[in-house]
Amino acid sequence: MSSQDKGLEIFKSATTGAREPLRLHVRSYGCQMNVYDSQRMADTLAPHGFVETATADDADLVILNTCHIRERAAEKVYSELGRIRVLKEQAAEAGRRVTVAVAGCVAQAEGEEILRRAPVVDLVVGPQSYHRLPDMLARSRAGRVVDTEFPVEDKFDHLAQPKPAKVRERGVSAFLTVQEGCDKFCTFCVVPYTRGAEVSRPVDRILGEAERLAQAGVRELTLIGQNVNAFHGEGPDGRTWSFARLLYRLAEVPGIARLRYTTSHPRDMDDDLIAAHGDLPALMPQLHLPVQSGSDRMLKVMNRVHTRADYLRVVERLRAARPDLAFSSDFIVGFPGETDAEFEDTLRLIAEVGYASAYSFKYSPRPGTPAADMPQLPEAVKDERLQRLQAEILRVQNAFNASCVGRTLDVLFEKRGRHPGQMVGKSPYLQAIHVMGPSALVGKIVPVRVTEQLSFTFNGVLAGASPFLETEALAPLPVGA
Ligand code: 5AD
Ligand code: SF4
Repeated sequence: MSSQDKGLEIFKSATTGAREPLRLHVRSYGCQMNVYDSQRMADTLAPHGFVETATADDADLVILNTCHIRERAAEKVYSELGRIRVLKEQAAEAGRRVTVAVAGCVAQAEGEEILRRAPVVDLVVGPQSYHRLPDMLARSRAGRVVDTEFPVEDKFDHLAQPKPAKVRERGVSAFLTVQEGCDKFCTFCVVPYTRGAEVSRPVDRILGEAERLAQAGVRELTLIGQNVNAFHGEGPDGRTWSFARLLYRLAEVPGIARLRYTTSHPRDMDDDLIAAHGDLPALMPQLHLPVQSGSDRMLKVMNRVHTRADYLRVVERLRAARPDLAFSSDFIVGFPGETDAEFEDTLRLIAEVGYASAYSFKYSPRPGTPAADMPQLPEAVKDERLQRLQAEILRVQNAFNASCVGRTLDVLFEKRGRHPGQMVGKSPYLQAIHVMGPSALVGKIVPVRVTEQLSFTFNGVLAGASPFLETEALAPLPVGA
């Protein structure tokens, strides 16, 4: 028995009232990469006898996979840890031991500090060390454990893959990390510090993972990375592959009908990638392309390394390649020194691009980032700008959504809806669409006539004649359908 296995045996028997299997609850905060990482942590612990549970209430191991991007996100962890402390005490009274781990970007940024602030925490694990979780658990009975190193080995080589049944349980749309970290150093952002330098995974590993997911029933892949379009991974030919080349290859994977990617930087939108949007039917016409601000001076102080005109040119070229491309973006209001006029530049940009959706945030100073040391704007100014920005986003978003009513869109069905006989799927533009239809629709891409816009979702009717539904639509669809 290896020392890790021995340690895990001790872990299990010390989890008094030890039950087989042990129950694991992973809660994700923040971005999609955390969702992906949480799944991979669960996959890595599964062979060691852990099964997932939906709540922390009956868990033997609770992992909080945290986000450090804004102060509010980071502070949420501590309030959640307060609730978990109560759970842990109640379990202890009942003779059951609960282990609490903090993972993700707060773990990376704060490390030991978390142990000081939150005595309930047994284990702190940074994003580059998830493959070491079984070993850390094995060691945790001897004392609290912290691992926030950037290890030399590649965690992806050591993280377990999910079983096909697990993939099916997670649904027909899956995330796949192709790139991690960021070298851009926008002056507001902690990511280059918490996730480290840009690293791309080798193409054969990505392909292998995509093929396994597709064989288990996944139809839509969202490729993720903090700077996904800066991908430059080693290809099977020994050369460096661009992101565009990776997309063309992934579009050939049997069963994968839809590809998406997030998050992109405008500067890394190269000619080949723009062309891919015109060439690849599987590449969905929805793109998250954060701009942050519409003011050239702000973009400069933010170190975005592009101008407003550069961004608009990229949007225009993408639309020329794929006329129905719908854009979304992130915006920051109240960045240090932002004037009223500069804020209005952002409002105008929103109208000019006509986003299909957008996320907006008040600037939040992050420790260790250059903008945190700049003179800050009053909170009231940020509040007022956020309200105005969100009203503008809502206006353009509603205009886009309204333009979809009456259209027939291909919908990838994901699951049953809340009402009997109702099914839910996603349009090419990532809108949630409800129809009445058979549950056999799950995993199928079927034309739907959009009839009505509700607040954030749509109702529609299956556009194929009913015999079509029972025959072709239920057979596997060709790639690119
Ligand atoms: N304050 C506010 N918003 C931020 N973001 C990143 N850092 C900060 C910060 N310090 C936003 C950006 C980014 C998104 C993921 O979060 O808009 O694109
Ligand atoms: Fe952060 Fe800028 Fe890198 Fe995006 S590109 S992760 S905003 S530093």
